[in-house]
Amino acid sequence: MIKQIALSAATALAISGGAALAAGGESHIHDVQFSFEGPFGAYDQMQLQRGLQVYTEVCAACHGLKYVPIRTLADEGGPQLPEDQVRAYAAQMEIFDPELDDYRPRVETDHFPENNDAGAPDLSLMAKARAGFHGPYGTGLSQLFNGMGGAEYIASLLTGYTGKEKEEAGSIFYENTAFPGGWISMAPPLYGEDVEYADGHSNSIHHESEDVAAFLMWAAEPKMMARKQTGLISVIFLTVLTVLLYATNKRLWKPIKKAAKEA
Ligand code: HEC
Repeated sequence: MIKQIALSAATALAISGGAALAAGGESHIHDVQFSFEGPFGAYDQMQLQRGLQVYTEVCAACHGLKYVPIRTLADEGGPQLPEDQVRAYAAQMEIFDPELDDYRPRVETDHFPENNDAGAPDLSLMAKARAGFHGPYGTGLSQLFNGMGGAEYIASLLTGYTGKEKEEAGSIFYENTAFPGGWISMAPPLYGEDVEYADGHSNSIHHESEDVAAFLMWAAEPKMMARKQTGLISVIFLTVLTVLLYATNKRLWKPIKKAAKEA
């Protein structure tokens, strides 16, 4: 029975992974021990704040986050910025208001700007969109066993540049060991020491990449902690229920079995 389940699970993984693999080449994703992995994992508030800084100062030049409401920066479990800082952050970005027929500063209830001027995809859901194809031959096994997902992919992408470039049909492509196919049109956005962290944390390219990857994971799945908690409670509940049902079953059948034995 267990063998059968394992076999069908492996087949399902292989099928889903295979499709993704067919779409691109083998890419190299390194594992990162993010704080939010595992059943008890949680976002690291300071890391999310640092990631927000990297996003704002570097990535926002090309990438939008149009599905993320700015007010969520104050939410518990997220970067948890104080309300006045969130308001000040929002006000730095303008939005066109059709009612005023003019631009006005954003308020907390507005979303982050959308931005794909440079042909750059929106990053709101990127960490989830790139979650599920890691492991040998795209089986997704690394995701299952090491918790590797979209955040690892983004961190690996940002540190995966080899320095080689090529020009094709008038566009420049940069060799990247994480990007499926190996050549990406995004110029290396990080080199290390791109931002100055207020908390004095190291701003090496590795730390900056991990911080912004964690931030984008939060942007794509702000309620991850609540989901994990619900999952854990459900598992505990089902375990208790199983034990109770087993005991009830034994007890109900006991006199009948006894009678059957004696007959
Ligand atoms: C100069 C503009 C520019 C900047 C700055 C920039 N990007 Fe990009 N990014 C792009 C473009 C263009 C693409 C599309 C690349 C492609 O598909 O070949 C892209 C694609 C991506 C992708 C998707 C890769 C995929 O798997 O499809 C991610 C993730 C990403 N960028 C993250 C970031 C992060 C994080 C930062 C900030 C540290 C950043 N980018 C800064 C232009 C930029």
